Amino acid sequence: MASVHFRSINICVIGTGYVGLVTGVCLAKIGHSVICVDNNKDKIKKLKKGISPIYEPGLSSLIKEGIKKGRLSFSEDINYAVKNSDVVFVCVNTPTQKNGKTDLRYIKAVSREIAKAMNGYKVIVSKSTIAVGTSQKIKEIMKRHHHPKLKFDIVFNPEFLREGSAVDDFLHPDRIVIGAESEKAKRIMEQIYGSVKTPIIFTGIEASEIIKHASNAFLATKISFINTVSNICEKNGGEIEEVALAMGLDKRIGKDFLKAGIGFGGSCFPKDVAAFIRVAKDSGYDFKLLKEVQRINFNQREQFVKKVQSLIPNLKNKKIAVLGLSFKPNTDDMREAPSIDIIKMLLVKKAVIKAYDPVAMEKAKDIFKNKITYGSNMYEVMKGANAVLILTEWADFLKIDFKKAKKLLRSPFIIDGRNMFSPEKMANLGFEYYSIGRKK
Ligand code: NAD
Ligand code: UGA
Repeated sequence: MASVHFRSINICVIGTGYVGLVTGVCLAKIGHSVICVDNNKDKIKKLKKGISPIYEPGLSSLIKEGIKKGRLSFSEDINYAVKNSDVVFVCVNTPTQKNGKTDLRYIKAVSREIAKAMNGYKVIVSKSTIAVGTSQKIKEIMKRHHHPKLKFDIVFNPEFLREGSAVDDFLHPDRIVIGAESEKAKRIMEQIYGSVKTPIIFTGIEASEIIKHASNAFLATKISFINTVSNICEKNGGEIEEVALAMGLDKRIGKDFLKAGIGFGGSCFPKDVAAFIRVAKDSGYDFKLLKEVQRINFNQREQFVKKVQSLIPNLKNKKIAVLGLSFKPNTDDMREAPSIDIIKMLLVKKAVIKAYDPVAMEKAKDIFKNKITYGSNMYEVMKGANAVLILTEWADFLKIDFKKAKKLLRSPFIIDGRNMFSPEKMANLGFEYYSIGRKK
């Protein structure tokens, strides 16, 4: 358990996205002095004013608190931030390319900049998800560009936070994994996380890199597994929630990540599954299991559209109300959201889409442009619609006034990709209600 070694450390965090910003803000919260850096001027401008550029519960108040306590600052200047820090966290994006290889251009650029800014011993900690072997590449880049007399250590510290509960996940993790090569770096990392009550697992660097990919790939596999079981339920009359509950009570299986739906999305599972398949390929192994996980995942989206078509065979010019766009609730993140695939398929069939999401509509506009329209609340999109699709399980949707909804809708059709409501209740209210892994 980390609990005794806490000491305030000067830290800089490079990249103020979902991971970097949460990391910087939470490290300041637990007592460190943190400079967050990004090369996106708009983000830094907002952050300096105490405004969060992303929607993440609890983050805004911690940003303001950090600034007020003088422990948190923001800058565009990597050179200044590195020079004034003992530990540098790298949290830039590491997208996956079409061939599955991780695009390392951002992490490489940052590594060069860190190396050039070095003015003494530093620990360089990557939190960006990287394929096994990448930390050693970072080390080589650092060696090529830094002053040879200056010493440094590299650490890989995978991040396991989930968007929507990122602050809580960071401050109360199940475990902290530190892949490190030197005792000195291990002790410094122990001090950084000294006040976080959770086991710290020290591993070799390569193991830590594999732990991150394997963890995400495993969770994605669990989702595709339960989604396949949900299809069997639909064909044979079993209720997926009953099946998942009973399976999950077996501690060896575990209840989490057994929620059937329209497949996983987000910036991580799709890209990390693809990257791990590529890591396997480069190691001479065809990871067919994960390829099937991907196939099942996309199939869930297609199955969902088929359900819509079973109610409305000809979608041309039919008005479809979409509730929820973000890839999961409590985030404005639209990356790889199931809503994107589903809406695109419906647009091919010439459906007319009007969508509502509590926080993700601005980001959705960048994706769909003017191909769909938006409503300022859920009832506005339902007006005159031929069907309602639920694509994200926002808690607000639980409060739908169904009597009002029924009056607004042209036909009482609800296709729920997140199983938010009970089929019996919806039938009693007079809706044709289709969901996932349940009757109909
Ligand atoms: P993001 O795209 O939200 O943020 C990345 C940030 O890095 C951006 O603000 C970008 O402007 C900045 N950046 C890029 N190049 C830079 C440079 N040269 N100098 C300064 N700033 C630069 O990404 P994210 O979702 O926070 O993910 C970051 C990494 O963490 C990825 O490797 C991801 O796989 C991993 N990860 C993400 C999550 C998550 O929930 N999003 C969870 C665990 C791990
Ligand atoms: C995921 C992991 O849960 C984090 O541990 C990890 O740090 C992160 O990826 C990452 O590496 O970036 P995140 O993508 O934020 O976090 O969100 P999840 O809660 O895992 O959901 C991912 C997707 O799976 C969502 O589209 C969600 O709707 C879907 N999902 C999740 C299901 O369909 N069923 C479930 O039972 C759980």
